[in-house]
Amino acid sequence: MFNVFKFQSSMNNYRFFILSRLFFACFGFIGAQQVYAQSTPPAGKGKFTPIAQWYDDKGVAINAHGGGVLFKDNVYYWFGEHKVAGSAGNTSQVGVHCYSSTNLYDWKDEGIALPMSDDERSDIVKGCVLERPKVIYNAKTKKYVMWFHLELKGKGYSAARTGLAISDKPTGPYRYIRSYRPNAGKMPFYPKGTPDSDRVNATIVKEQDKFFMRDFAGGQMARDMTLFVDDDGKAYHIFSSEENYTLHVAELNADYTAHTGKFSRVYIGQQTEAPAIFKRNGIYYMIGSGCTGWAPNAARLFRAKSIFGPWEYLGNPCIGPNKELTYGGQSTYVLNVNGKKNALIFMADKWEPKNAIDGRYIWLPITFTGDDVKVVWKDSWDLGDLGK
Ligand code: DGJ
Repeated sequence: MFNVFKFQSSMNNYRFFILSRLFFACFGFIGAQQVYAQSTPPAGKGKFTPIAQWYDDKGVAINAHGGGVLFKDNVYYWFGEHKVAGSAGNTSQVGVHCYSSTNLYDWKDEGIALPMSDDERSDIVKGCVLERPKVIYNAKTKKYVMWFHLELKGKGYSAARTGLAISDKPTGPYRYIRSYRPNAGKMPFYPKGTPDSDRVNATIVKEQDKFFMRDFAGGQMARDMTLFVDDDGKAYHIFSSEENYTLHVAELNADYTAHTGKFSRVYIGQQTEAPAIFKRNGIYYMIGSGCTGWAPNAARLFRAKSIFGPWEYLGNPCIGPNKELTYGGQSTYVLNVNGKKNALIFMADKWEPKNAIDGRYIWLPITFTGDDVKVVWKDSWDLGDLGK
């Protein structure tokens, strides 16, 4: 049945989306990023100091934005976007940077794992936009598999593709394979409990489904993203789709190199970006953000019994100063420390769109009271502040 309230709310969201884009285009995010003065001390050994500058083993500021962490053979590998100075840093000029660590405090520069190409015919030519790279290990093929959000050079954010690169070693070099919009010609999977209002009617297209149906034949838009490997070894690609209105949770094949066509739609029409997933006591949790360009907004927490959902929206999990703006940052990954059930780190980026290279990292402990999940601000903390 046509839902007037949802239609109106979707139109309001759309108006807000357009107005907010215009606002940020006109005013260049003035003030939005300078939430904290740089009063925190530089990262010292054995401490995490959110927003302070963090340095690698060569004394150079760590350059791995929108990143994620792979834990393999007792080593953590941090992958992220290498940014350059100025607003040019909002496009990809260098590649995906990799750092390694055995203790999460001290990071060794492993170099550029996936370099941008000099070939103008390449999808990943310098000047494209490659964001939020994540790497997972496939035990069957023994390959390291990187997926990322890719925008083609000179086309703004209209391509909305996902890209794939593969390596034999965690640190690379990664070989670029392809990019595309996933799940072309596929209808969503509806987990048990999906309300009728969330099901696509391809004949009478609801307002909330119009972008989904528009992109049905050619593949669904794939922007902000993360990867998640479940206990059974199955991997999932979670991304902002449908002009960022709706998240998709999509299954990858056994090699992690393609989408199987099974996916669900999450928080339809509500504009969620920056998804980060973890699992605890058999329950899936996802932290994401709203959609306000590079400017921070409130984080949003979801919970589900199945990775496909239905996902329950639980509000903002952040506690502490500036919690309504995720402390000036935006989620990128949840890092499970050493596989310990309660040792989880919320990783976020504090973006600096006018001087992208100066973006900072906000890593904070996730805490639990029963099943209640919170992210708690701390000026300085260490792994002893995490649960076991
Ligand atoms: C917010 C996203 O989360 C970032 O990854 C990036 O795409 C910016 N929007 C671009 O405005």
